[in-house]
Amino acid sequence: MRPGSPAAGAAGPPAPPEVRVGEVGEVAEWLAADFAVRAGRAAGDGRPFAVAIPGGSVAARCFPRLAALGLGRSGTEFFFADERAVPPDHPDSNLAQARALWLKPAGVPEERVHRLRGEAPDLERAARDYAAELAAVAGDPPRLDWVLLGAGPDGHVASLFPGHPALDDPRPVFPVVDAPKPPARRLTLSLAVLTAARRVVVVAFGAAKAAAIGEALEEAGSALPLARLLRGAGDALVLLDREAAGRLRG
Ligand code: 6PG
Repeated sequence: MRPGSPAAGAAGPPAPPEVRVGEVGEVAEWLAADFAVRAGRAAGDGRPFAVAIPGGSVAARCFPRLAALGLGRSGTEFFFADERAVPPDHPDSNLAQARALWLKPAGVPEERVHRLRGEAPDLERAARDYAAELAAVAGDPPRLDWVLLGAGPDGHVASLFPGHPALDDPRPVFPVVDAPKPPARRLTLSLAVLTAARRVVVVAFGAAKAAAIGEALEEAGSALPLARLLRGAGDALVLLDREAAGRLRG
């Protein structure tokens, strides 16, 4: 049994996340190394490497490095942690960003990219279809191998916002139609699916994130989505630049 896996820690609560602080370039290198190690582990177990990826600044700053290393070119099934309700070629589309910065330059085959249909007129149906696609690769309930997430200044992850009823939605994938971060209409994986991943990696850059990062990592009773994710995850890594780590006491 590997240390850090939920089963290994069955006698007690999950281990606290490992936190690393560095320059943006170092963060991208740590992220790449983590992806490679976990991909190798899945391959060793004879499983596809099922991952979920975000949009936002993590994609903008880190995906080019992952692409340059050719990560994900084979054996990886790409899902999305969330998607905005826009067409796939829209500038706000998380898919468009991932395609431009990682998937295309790395040569990831299209059939390994499982996109959330943000342009669908019926987002409920798009969510149900995605849940089936996810279950076909990652099981039911789904257990992704590696989930990468950014974090909002308000402590949101994916499209799961503080105080929103979506945080306790039991469906694996569902629409959110009143997100405080535009665009309001989105699709997201649930907190339960994100938390259940074999490895959860959170990356945050900038002073605007410092308060949420500090609270999520250091206040045991925090109700922030990020805090709930990190408390529940069996094996989590948090990568920060110095500004985002500015309110950590340790
Ligand atoms: C999105 C993302 C979202 C993002 C956070 C942080 O669709 O916007 O997937 O969850 O990761 O909002 O975004 P930034 O890193 O850009 O602040």
